[in-house]
Amino acid sequence: MNPQTTRHAATLEEHSGLTSLTEITSSPDPQAHYARLRAQWGEVAPVEIERKDDVVVPAWLVLGHAENCHVMRSEMDYSRNAANWRWNRENLLPAGTAIGTFAPPAPRPTSFYHDGPERERLRAPLDDALAALDERAVRDQTRYMCERVIERMGDSGSGDLVKVYSRPVGFLAMTTTLGFDLETGARLMADSAAVVSGDGEQVANAQASTAAIVMEHIGQRRKDGGQDLIGHLVGHPNFAHDGEIATSAIVPVSAAAIFLTAWITQTLHQLLADRELSARMSGGRLTLDGTLDQVLWRRSPIAQSPALRYARNDVQLGGRSIRKGDALVLAIAAANADPAVHTDDLWDEVDNRSHLSWGTGPHACPAPRLARLIARTAVDHLLRHRDVQLTVPESSLPAAASPWVRHAERLPVTWQRATDRGAFR
Ligand code: HEM
Repeated sequence: MNPQTTRHAATLEEHSGLTSLTEITSSPDPQAHYARLRAQWGEVAPVEIERKDDVVVPAWLVLGHAENCHVMRSEMDYSRNAANWRWNRENLLPAGTAIGTFAPPAPRPTSFYHDGPERERLRAPLDDALAALDERAVRDQTRYMCERVIERMGDSGSGDLVKVYSRPVGFLAMTTTLGFDLETGARLMADSAAVVSGDGEQVANAQASTAAIVMEHIGQRRKDGGQDLIGHLVGHPNFAHDGEIATSAIVPVSAAAIFLTAWITQTLHQLLADRELSARMSGGRLTLDGTLDQVLWRRSPIAQSPALRYARNDVQLGGRSIRKGDALVLAIAAANADPAVHTDDLWDEVDNRSHLSWGTGPHACPAPRLARLIARTAVDHLLRHRDVQLTVPESSLPAAASPWVRHAERLPVTWQRATDRGAFR
């Protein structure tokens, strides 16, 4: 523990020596960090979101399951609109922070950034469009796309499974569902990579390129009435203009594709590294859906939600005083491991959806069915067609550096065309 950390400081900004979110997410044992924070602070702890030019951007990290549920369900106390964040209101944020790109001072027109009636107006088209999707067609498109990616891997070879399979499959499945062909999906994937890792100019260019591609597709669907996810959004009476449709579609292109990549990677990682788990699947005792559930419980693709909350008033949470304008980060991976809801028994996790990997309340993920369909198809398809082996010990696999998403940075593997005794059938 850093000796400078002051336990009884009055305001969030007065705490020093804070643990950074990236340090937690990319550590070999995030649960040890959560346990240490709990022991020191209780269920709500001050942390560093990001540091820029020696300025530390702080937030409250919400650890407990009950406290996370309370915040997620109380949008009138804990807003999603970053205009309520003191760091935006008082112009405290240094230029060029990553958090600034998705906590804008003026909310973009998507349910993601709004509360109450405006959230309802913008959320309904997404729910309706997802409900209207033909799931059989999504499965077939995802299979087709997986086949193309597996063909590119060749009959046998070696490489990083995240790079050659989970990332392209996570992105292209999402962009295909939205209605883009594979070539355009690859351009959107390159834009997203630039947004995550690029400098200011690169980020602005990539965001402009994505917006132009999405707007062109909206125009096309207006003409031809095509029935992909964007096609279902176009023409929804709740939208006031095409800019709102584009913003609603860009959340799945950017964030959701990254989460899908993480879920597919985490699941493949577990199956390759944990012989007991893979034997349970090969022996027919555990289904692939059960394994996907286990990953959501124990290795949530989202460790901390990038959808921050901002206190509208002075409130108490987990015995801590939260000031109006403070930011809160929801620690989904900590909540899922809270002993109040979780045991170490695998069979308590299968079919148990009380984890928070989809969130809960008015902003809960609208797409758990779609995400599961894509992740299940992607994992199943690879393991049906290629026998895959990890080539390094699991302990040598570093986690990707992110404050939010957790998965191995790389999965070095070899593969060959699957035999009848393919690993997990
Ligand atoms: C493994 C995959 C996914 C995971 C783990 C995931 C998880 C989540 C979580 C936890 C939230 C709520 C965040 C919060 O309240 O703090 C959320 C929101 C959201 N998710 Fe997902 N998601 C996934 C895939 C998808 C997909 C495929 C879509 C495609 C449509 C999607 C679209 C959204 C949208 C639009 C929101 C914001 C909803 C709102 O604020 O009204 N997600 N997701």
